[in-house]
Amino acid sequence: MFSAQTYVERRQALAHRMEGRGLVVLPGNGESPINYPNNAYRFRQDSTFLYYFGLDVPGLVGVLDTDTGEATLFGDDFTVDDIIWMGPQPKIAELAVKVGVTKSAPIARLETTIAEATARGRAIHIMKPYRGETRLMLERIVPDAFLAPSEALIMAAVAQRDKKSAEEIAEIEKACAIGYKMHTLAMSMCRPGVREQDIAGAIEGVALREGWGTSFHSIVSQHGETLHNHSHAGTLQEGRLLLVDAGAEANSNYCSDFTRTTPVSGKFTTKQKEIYDIVLAANNHAIKVSGPGVRYVDVHLSSARVIVEGLHGLGLVMGDIDAAVAAGVHALFMPHGLGHQMGLDVHDMENYGEQYVGYNAETPRSTDPACSTCRMGRRLEPGMVVTVEPGLYFVPELIAKWRAEKRATEFVNYDRVETYLDFGGIRLEDDMLVTETGTRLLGKRLPITTEEVEAATAASLG
Ligand code: GLY
Ligand code: MN
Ligand code: MN
Repeated sequence: MFSAQTYVERRQALAHRMEGRGLVVLPGNGESPINYPNNAYRFRQDSTFLYYFGLDVPGLVGVLDTDTGEATLFGDDFTVDDIIWMGPQPKIAELAVKVGVTKSAPIARLETTIAEATARGRAIHIMKPYRGETRLMLERIVPDAFLAPSEALIMAAVAQRDKKSAEEIAEIEKACAIGYKMHTLAMSMCRPGVREQDIAGAIEGVALREGWGTSFHSIVSQHGETLHNHSHAGTLQEGRLLLVDAGAEANSNYCSDFTRTTPVSGKFTTKQKEIYDIVLAANNHAIKVSGPGVRYVDVHLSSARVIVEGLHGLGLVMGDIDAAVAAGVHALFMPHGLGHQMGLDVHDMENYGEQYVGYNAETPRSTDPACSTCRMGRRLEPGMVVTVEPGLYFVPELIAKWRAEKRATEFVNYDRVETYLDFGGIRLEDDMLVTETGTRLLGKRLPITTEEVEAATAASLG
């Protein structure tokens, strides 16, 4: 948690952007039961609430009056019955002071506050709820006229949150340092006979020991071609590749998100190295051409060109390289975008809607096959943190589908591509800060060249 002043300034800036528009209602998250209310999943605070109200406590709602700039924290003090089970806790009024809020009230007052405001003709602004409980609560207390997510609020919050302050960058760098330990540990454990679960458990332990925990379910899989593969059921086999996509949250909930791909045998085969070096070239290229004022969709497309050019060199793609990129041929091999924003959430603010976070009026979402998979397309600005995560995957079902549909037959050498059906996938992901003059990778860069990755696995292979 930052100082109270940080939250005061954040709310003042939001009130200023939203001036005259009414009340902003920001529910924090509640406890989420596994099978009954007192057996809950681990609590994770809503990131918008965390950004403006900073308190990592369930059951709170923050309200900001955009005219007066006054904030109120709604929540219920612990009863003795609560204290028996969960220990003494600060009163809501004491919590409020920690984040510079002078007014607090029981949660039951929220409904009347909203009713009084709307009776005086004032508007209510909410974000789109992503949890059922929050949605039900809002549907109960917010008049229908204001239940649609407020575009004014979303755009104000994005404009504020997408430029990370120095204290936020420092927290992201803490998360990156944890991510570094997780990934180098995974590399050092990577050898035949080790279970994916062994590695997943070990690196998630690091995330819990060093910070809040993981920033998303760790992907630790020899089936790297399955983009979000959450199974850890495999045992590492000679000759395969292990893809690890994992990150941490610092205790402040700021995130990291890295991917590396490691040969189980400790050495890349020629075929693996050829594909790996294409992904590495795309990653380095993306970092080099990124900077303030550059549209990320253009970085996506020019990195896709590096990938297509590399595949052309291996005979998997044929014909004119630019025409192949324009036709979206890279989407057969990299069916995802180059990256996303990262901050208090690993996919920062994506609950607001990709069209607001990754796109804007100048750069609207495209349906063009060449960039339709890109979730972040708009111009980079100093202070933004984005991931750079090109990959190359051989998804047998996707290849079969494209072939059956006779898609891009002038560009794809399907016979040759089918010799890679058991290859798996490679992704290389770094976290990048956009600066005034260019970019800077956050955290110490993980081993990334084939030589560096082989060296990082060598210790365990003896
Ligand atoms: N960890 C998911 C992603 O890289 O987007
Ligand atoms: Mn990732
Ligand atoms: Mn990512």
